[in-house]
Amino acid sequence: MESTARLSDGGQARIVFQPEGKRGVFPVGTTIMDAAREVGVDIETICGGKLTCGKCQVIIEGGMENLSPVTEDEQRLLDKKKAGKNYRLACVTKFYGDVVVYVPEESRGGEQIILKEGVELSVEMDPAVKKYYLELEKPHLKDDLGDFERVLNALKKDYGIEGVDIDYQVLRKMPDVLRDNDWKVTVSIWDDKEIVDIEGGYTAEEVYGLAVDIGTTTVVGYLTDLRTGEVLAVDSMMNPQVTYGEDVMSRITFAMQEPDGLDKLNDKIINGLNKILEKACQQANISPTKVSEVTIVGNTGMHHIFMKINPKHIAMAPYVPALHQSHDVKARDLGLNIAEGSYVHVLPIEAGWVGADNVAVLIATEPYKQDEMQLIIDIGTNGEIVLGNKERMMSCSAAAGPALEGAHIKHGMRAATGAIEKIRIDPETYESTYNTIGNAPPRGICGSGIIDAVAEMFRAGIVKKNGRFNLDLDTPRVRETDGIPEYVIAWANETSTGHDIVMTQKDIREVQLAKGAMSAGAHILMNEMGVDKVDRVIVAGAFGNYIDKLSALIIGLVPEVPLDRIDSVGNAAGVGARIALISRKKRKEANEIARRVEHIKLAVHPDFEKEFTRAMFFPHMEKKRYQNFDEIIRSR
Ligand code: FES
Repeated sequence: MESTARLSDGGQARIVFQPEGKRGVFPVGTTIMDAAREVGVDIETICGGKLTCGKCQVIIEGGMENLSPVTEDEQRLLDKKKAGKNYRLACVTKFYGDVVVYVPEESRGGEQIILKEGVELSVEMDPAVKKYYLELEKPHLKDDLGDFERVLNALKKDYGIEGVDIDYQVLRKMPDVLRDNDWKVTVSIWDDKEIVDIEGGYTAEEVYGLAVDIGTTTVVGYLTDLRTGEVLAVDSMMNPQVTYGEDVMSRITFAMQEPDGLDKLNDKIINGLNKILEKACQQANISPTKVSEVTIVGNTGMHHIFMKINPKHIAMAPYVPALHQSHDVKARDLGLNIAEGSYVHVLPIEAGWVGADNVAVLIATEPYKQDEMQLIIDIGTNGEIVLGNKERMMSCSAAAGPALEGAHIKHGMRAATGAIEKIRIDPETYESTYNTIGNAPPRGICGSGIIDAVAEMFRAGIVKKNGRFNLDLDTPRVRETDGIPEYVIAWANETSTGHDIVMTQKDIREVQLAKGAMSAGAHILMNEMGVDKVDRVIVAGAFGNYIDKLSALIIGLVPEVPLDRIDSVGNAAGVGARIALISRKKRKEANEIARRVEHIKLAVHPDFEKEFTRAMFFPHMEKKRYQNFDEIIRSR
């Protein structure tokens, strides 16, 4: 501990902030908070020193005797558990001699939070929107400063904030909000630049945002506390644009051919997002008008349609998007019903067919910081694949179709209660066992269950390498209905639907097409990169559940790597949208990485047809690509 002395020369005193070791000399009677601001130490303050929040607690490591006495109000806010442990509130405590102050983790601005979503990632909390509580001097005849200028002065005095502007609609309501609330208000400031909301009273601890992943088939929204990074509620729905086409291309065609096609598609997604917003807010018991920002990720088609930008140019060579970089647009311009004046942050896109969803996956998994060669497979209707490390990154997109999300599969369904999510088949008896979401009677099979079903049917010899059924097996579970072979996973008396749940020959074919496209994309990227193996595979996708790594390997959805080198990370695009919501640094990183990734256009690649045809086999037509396959399959 540093030595301290009462009153340094000339009415000045020295202060040292730990653990950073930053220090400075100030006139005696300066508050710890003001000194911290001067030397660039970030101490949490959300009430601006109004003795309301108690967030600015610091520990005095030396010079306790040199501080102003603890007042009753301060004592009230100091946690009882901390009494007698040298805690003080930085905003009101003045120092009159040398002091050493330790700023604990929970009082530091920009706190690190650890996201544990398949991969573990440490993110510094720095959302774009922050709230500040103000108690203003009332105007009178000798002080007739304008309301906005009065707010600006208070922001500067209490928080050291300067140079902010104000949203026009917020400005319009400001005079009434100030007077109706006895000049005690909370303002929301976006990106240190603009006041985007003003509320009466102290609401500085209620800052929320919504992170949204707009998938071609599934849309997911994560209502997030912008002070802690905690997800308060999750809501998802089928993309309501599905009525106008199942894949991106058919929706773009609809937008191009129908006179008001783009309007219709845009309306669908905006209405859908407002519903997600409402339902998530209901779950968390907050009003949607308390949501201060939305982040959006999605493939380039979903991105353009959401922003009501004509998507036709991304569908035609040379497949150029309207913009690559991220964009901030007023929520009200898009029709989203959140707080007055708030913004929607749309993440950057890489290329015509590799969009903001892939950038989100990248900032969630950070392959561009690794030495090892990583392959990231983001399974979706429009699947995306990235290969690389900190030296070089490549990406492509593969039109996998919606089979692995449960669509186009006879008994496929989204990951919801009653969905079969895990399946095992005994290779001796061909009997099945399964788990369902919520342990409910089965009513269908979700993505992870579909991959399991195909892997297990192949492992048990029910389907062959080329995907065809083996009809010579002695089991009632393998049968033909209307001439189409199928395997019964659950008998009617076990299900909630009252009929058998099966995987048909056509279902297997759909999975082959999906996994063939993804696998072909991966192998083409490996060829382009000049590598014949990768160090790690990360499998992502909005299944709602993590897929089984061994099953993914058995069907050849991922290239051969040791099992412990496969990470199944769930919806990494959604995690990336959440990260962008709580960290401006990661937004910047997203813009940088989006321009660094080299994009390979799979559809016009000369090897695609050949690779695709070979990748349709289980696990692959070329044995040399899965040299240890017998060992792999025995490991279950
Ligand atoms: Fe709120 Fe000190 S009590 S900043």
